Amino acid sequence: MALLTLKNLTLGFGGPPLLNEVNFTLEHGERVSLVGRNGQGKSSLMKLITGALKPDDGQIKLEDGAKLAHLPQEVPDHIDGTVFEVVAQGLGDTADLISQYQQLSSQIQGEQNQVQLEKLEKLQQQIDEQDGWRLQEMVNKAISHLKLEPQLVFNALSGGVKRRVLLAKAIVSKPDLLILDEPTNHLDVDTILWLEQELKHMGNTLLFVTHDRAFLRSLATRIIDLDRGELKSYPGDYEKYLKQKAADLHAEDLAWEREDKHLAKEEVWIRQGIKARRTRNEGRVRALKRLRAERKERRDRIGQVNLQLHEAQSSGHEVVKATHLDYSWDNQPIVNDFSLTIMRGDRVGVIGPNGCGKTTLLKLLLGELKPQAGKIKLGTKLQICYFDQLRGQLNEEQTLAENLCDGGDTVRVGEQRKHVIGYLKDFLFEPERARQKVSALSGGERNRLLLAKLFTQPANVLVMDEPTNDLDSDTLELLEVLLMDYKGTLLLVSHDREFINNVVTSTIAFDADGKVRSYVGGYHDWLAQRPQPVTEKSAEKPKKGKPKSPAPQEKKRKLTYKETRDLEELPQRIEALETEQSELHERVADPSFYQQEHTLVAEVTERLKSIEEELETCYTRWDELESLAS
Ligand SMILES: Nc1ncnc2c1ncn2[C@@H]1O[C@H](COP(=O)(O)OP(=O)(O)OP(=O)(O)O)[C@@H](O)[C@H]1O
Ligand SMILES: [Mg+2]
Repeated sequence: MALLTLKNLTLGFGGPPLLNEVNFTLEHGERVSLVGRNGQGKSSLMKLITGALKPDDGQIKLEDGAKLAHLPQEVPDHIDGTVFEVVAQGLGDTADLISQYQQLSSQIQGEQNQVQLEKLEKLQQQIDEQDGWRLQEMVNKAISHLKLEPQLVFNALSGGVKRRVLLAKAIVSKPDLLILDEPTNHLDVDTILWLEQELKHMGNTLLFVTHDRAFLRSLATRIIDLDRGELKSYPGDYEKYLKQKAADLHAEDLAWEREDKHLAKEEVWIRQGIKARRTRNEGRVRALKRLRAERKERRDRIGQVNLQLHEAQSSGHEVVKATHLDYSWDNQPIVNDFSLTIMRGDRVGVIGPNGCGKTTLLKLLLGELKPQAGKIKLGTKLQICYFDQLRGQLNEEQTLAENLCDGGDTVRVGEQRKHVIGYLKDFLFEPERARQKVSALSGGERNRLLLAKLFTQPANVLVMDEPTNDLDSDTLELLEVLLMDYKGTLLLVSHDREFINNVVTSTIAFDADGKVRSYVGGYHDWLAQRPQPVTEKSAEKPKKGKPKSPAPQEKKRKLTYKETRDLEELPQRIEALETEQSELHERVADPSFYQQEHTLVAEVTERLKSIEEELETCYTRWDELESLAS
C-alpha cells in the first residue's frame, strides 16, 4: 500500500488555485523531490500533508500508524528549551523518559532514597524497552554533525542555527515519511555531504524541496513538478526531468499556438456581415464561446526575472591587496599570514564550514576590520554593495512597495527613478502584490525582493553572503548568468557547489588544517587542488577497490559549464594580456620612461608584475582545462 495518497487536492488563497485537484501517491522508500517556481505552492502542499494547513477540497491519506516529521522552510515561533531538548523532542515519549531519568538521577545523587531509586530503576527499564539509550546517542550524533551546542537556549539562536536544530530533530525522530523544505539552507558543504549520506542510509521515505541542484541530483529517485496548480510526476533523475519538462513546455506552446489560430479564425467569422450572421450556426457560436473561455482560463507561465545590475563607475584596477594578514578572535586564529590580491573583474568565492570566519574575512578584506598584523590596501573609487540574507534588510511588517521606496511611489535605480510597480514587475511581482506585507511572501519570493532591493544600488564591488537560498532554479540560473557577465568585482560566500562552480574565477577556502588558501577556479577545482581531502568519500565516488586519487578522477569528469566557458575565453584573455605586456615593455624600453614622475613609473612596473602573475595563473588553468577536456 502506498505510504501517502493525495486525491483531488485543491487549495487557493484567493488568486488562481495553487493546487487544482491534484493527485499523487508516494511509495515506501522513495526519495521524491518537489520542484516548481517560487510561490507555486510547494511549502503549502507540504503543510497540507503535515496537517498544518487544511485543503479547500480533496483528501490526504497517510498509511495507518505511519510517523511523519517535517522541517519547515520558516522557523516557527514559540519553541522553548535548550538545543538538546528541542532535538530530543524528535524522539517523542522516549525523550520525556530520558529527561525525567536525568533529572531524578541528579536529584538523588548522594542520598539513598529507596522510593526514588525504585522509580529510577523503573524509568531505566522503560527507556531500555524503547531502545532509548541508542536514540539518545543518535541525538548526540546529530547535534555534533550539525555543529550545534546542546546547552544553548533555542530562542536565542540565529535563524540559520535554529533551522539546523530543527533538521536534527526531524532526522532523529526516524519517521516513516520525512518532509524537508529547503534542508540545505545555511548548511556548509561538509554538512550537506553528511546529510546526503545520512538520508540515503536512513532508507526512509523522503519528500523534499531544495534549491541545491547538486543535492537534488544526488538524492532524488523521482521528481514531481508543481506548475500552475498541476502536479506532474517525472520518474528518473533530474537530467531526465529537465529534458521532459522542456518537451512538455514546447508541446504546450504548440497547442496554444494551434488554439490561438483557431480562435482568431472564428473571431473573424463571427464578425462577418449581416448575411453571414443570419446563417450563423448556433453550435459554432457556442464552440467559439467555449474557446474564448478557455483562452481566458489559460494560466500563463511565470516569466523570468529581469535582473539588471546598475554598475557604478569602474573602480581602480586593483581592488584589494592584502599582505600577511593575521587576525584572531577570542584567541582563535581566523587567518594567519594570509596574502591575496583581488583585481577588478575578479569573481572570488569564499567557502568553508559554518562559523569558520568567512564573514570576518570579508570584513577584513573590505577594510571594516583592522588586522592584528599585516596590511590591507583598498583600491580607488570602490562602491561596495552587500547582500546578506541574515541581516534582515527587509521589514516584515511593511509592504513590498514600502520596502523599496524611500517615500512616494518611485524607486531610485542606479541613476534613474522608476515607478515601484514597474520595478516590482521586473522581479515577477504583480501590481496587486505591491501593497501586500512582506510577511505573507514565500521563502523564494522574499529572497527575490531582497535582490530587487540590492540591485537598486549602483556598485562596482558586490559582496553576496549566501544569495541562493530558496531561489527557484530559473531565477538561480539567471542570477548566475548576471554575475558571470558582471564587469565589477564579486565576493561570494556560498555553500552551493554548482553555483560556486559556475560563477567564480577563484576561491578562498578555509581548509581542514585551519589554513586559509586561495585557489584558481571553483568548488571542483578546490576539491582537486586542496592539500588533503577531509570530507567523507561522498564528495566524489571513487570506484571500489581502486586507490583514491583526485587527479585521475578529475580527468574523467565532464567539464562544468563555467569550465567550458573559461576554456573558450582563456586564449583571448591571454592574448590581451600579452599585447598589453608587450606595449608596456616597449614603453619601459624607451629612454625617457624613467624620466617621468615616480608614481607613473611605479604604476607601470606594478602592472607588469601583475600581468606576469595573471598570465602564469591563466596558463596553469588553461593546461588544467585542456587536460580535463581531452
Ligand atoms: N496564509 C497565506 N495567505 C495568503 N497567501 C499565502 C499564504 N501562504 C502562502 N501564500 C501565498 O501562496 C503562494 C505559495 O506559497 P508557498 O510558500 O507555498 O510557495 P513555494 O512554492 O513554497 O515557494 P518558494 O519556492 O518560494 O518557497 C505565495 O505566493 C504566497 O505568497
Ligand atoms: Mg516554499
